[in-house]
Formats: sequence, C-alpha cells, structure tokens
Amino acid sequence: MLDQVINGDCLEILAQIPDNTVDMCFADPPFNLDKRYSTYKDQRAAEDYLAWCEQWLRELVRVTKPTGSIFVHNIPKWLTYYAGILNQIAHFRHWIAWDAMSAPLGKTLLPAHYGILFYSKQAHGTKFYEVRAPHKTCRECGAFLKDYGGKKDQMHPFGMLVSDVWTDIHRIRHNKRRDPHPCQLPIHLLERLILMTTDEGDLVLDPFLGTGTTAIAAKRLSRHYIGIELDPLYAQVARDKVAQAQPTRYEGVPVSLFLGKIQSIRDCDAAKLFPPQLTAPQKRRRKAAPQSVLAPLPLSQLE
Ligand SMILES: C[S@@+](CC[C@H](N)C(=O)[O-])C[C@H]1O[C@@H](n2cnc3c(N)ncnc32)[C@H](O)[C@@H]1O
Repeated sequence: MLDQVINGDCLEILAQIPDNTVDMCFADPPFNLDKRYSTYKDQRAAEDYLAWCEQWLRELVRVTKPTGSIFVHNIPKWLTYYAGILNQIAHFRHWIAWDAMSAPLGKTLLPAHYGILFYSKQAHGTKFYEVRAPHKTCRECGAFLKDYGGKKDQMHPFGMLVSDVWTDIHRIRHNKRRDPHPCQLPIHLLERLILMTTDEGDLVLDPFLGTGTTAIAAKRLSRHYIGIELDPLYAQVARDKVAQAQPTRYEGVPVSLFLGKIQSIRDCDAAKLFPPQLTAPQKRRRKAAPQSVLAPLPLSQLE
C-alpha cells in the first residue's frame, strides 16, 4: 500500500494494515453537515455517525507506531466526542485551534475555528519537533506587525515558534483553481503537522484523503504515504495531483512552501539555516535564495 492512493472504504482498508506500522495518521472525516460529496451521504443520525467514528479512530490508534501521532480535524462539537474515545486509548497532546471564519449561524457565537486534536500513541517517547513560522509583517513596508515588547532585535531571524492557535494558514475558498471537492484542505496545513511529527522516509496515513492533500504534502516533504478515499473521482484527482508533486526543499532541508516562501520550518533546521548572527557569506546566500532556490509553486498547487 506504500505510496498509494487506494479507492475504498477506510474501515476495510485499515483492517489490512498491521499494528504499529504508521508514523503519523491524519483524519479529516466528513463532518455530518450534509456536505455534497459525490458518493458519501453526509447526513447520519448522530449516534450512527459517532459509532462509525469510534471504529476508525480505534483503527488509527492501532496502526500507529508507539512513537507516532494521531491528528483529527473536525468541528468542535464532534471533537468533544472524539476526545472521550481517544482519551481511553491514546494520550492527549494538544487541541490546535485553526482560525477559519465561517458564516453566522444565528443565536450562537460566530464559529471562527476548526479544531485539530493531536494525540500520541504513548505518553512518552513520541516523535515531535517544534516548528517555526515567519514573523507577520506589513505587506507594504515589511515591518513586524507585532511590537514584541521593544525586543524586535532579539527575535529569531526567521520567525516565531508555532503555538496551538494557527492564524496564518487560510482556508481554500471556492474559486476556479480548487478541486471538484467541497472541503479541500490547504497543503501547507498538512505540511506543518507532518514536519512536527515525522522524519524523512516516515509513513503518513490519511483514511479520508479527498483529492489528495495529505499525500501531496507527504511527498513534497519526502515522506511515504497511504491515502484511502471512498469516491473514485476524488481518488483519481488525488493520484493525478500526487504524481505531479515535487519535493520542496530549502538548502537541502524539507520545508513547507507557500507562494514561494517558507511557511513552516522545523526549529532544528531553522537554527542551522537562520542563525542569530549571520556571517557575511551567509547573509549574501540568504539574500540570493528567495529568487534562486524558492521556485514559485505550480498554479495547480496554490489556493
Ligand atoms: C472532509 S473530506 C476530506 C478532504 C481532504 N482532507 C482534502 O483535503 O481533500 C472527507 C472525505 O472522506 C471521504 N469518505 C467518506 N467516507 C469514507 C470512507 N468510509 N472511507 C474512505 N473515505 C471516505 C469522502 O468521500 C470525502 O472525500
């Protein structure tokens, strides 16, 4: 199954994967919100939906290695149930709030984030790397948007360590360039999660692959993947897109790129590539790099 997009039901395919073999699982299941998928009917009774979710959540934990991690993306309502299940069989690490504005529903607070639950299979020995994202700067003048308490000169030259609130990755809007899929995720969202919890050559699994986001992210960062998708049309779109994906590296290091700029980099790599005190030749190389090394992405891979 390695490096394959498999068209099938995730429960049937997961049953064929041995215990403790996957480094990182990411699941972005249907949210039971009556979205228009071409095969799956996204409207079940809540009990039905949750019983089904429990089955694949248990499978994801089973196939994950003792050093591995499990991420699940959904609306907060369902994540509260997922946490109840996962707390019994894995170890809670974080609730990542991914800032994403949606429409007012009326008589509620305006939903403004999706959650990504982050669990590890075991309490200790989990593979985890801190990640940095670039400082937010003014588009016109390039100045830092934050004041940093008057200590801007002491800031890391590349950017801040990523927290559990993500505001710098935007949802994919409906436009001509998006795939024929109602809820495609941005590739650099997955790239950040993959950089955080895997090494090159590790295996990433997505049981709800859609049009291929996780597999593309894995391939770009030189990881292996297994993608499972029920719908034959989405699976084929995913295969075509994955075939075109190329590794994204900066000075030999796998990084997440968006619009030709680094969006996420591991702290350990940033420490080597963006040391606080750059020597003159390093400064020159860094100045030259954005044009020469960071090639713009193909349009098909941009939001
Ligand atoms: C929220 S979408 C995932 C989108 C994906 N993250 C992307 O960026 O393209 C959920 C996907 O799960 C698929 N799906 C639903 N039931 C499934 C099942 N039993 N096995 C595998 N895939 C399933 C749907 O067809 C849909 O494409």
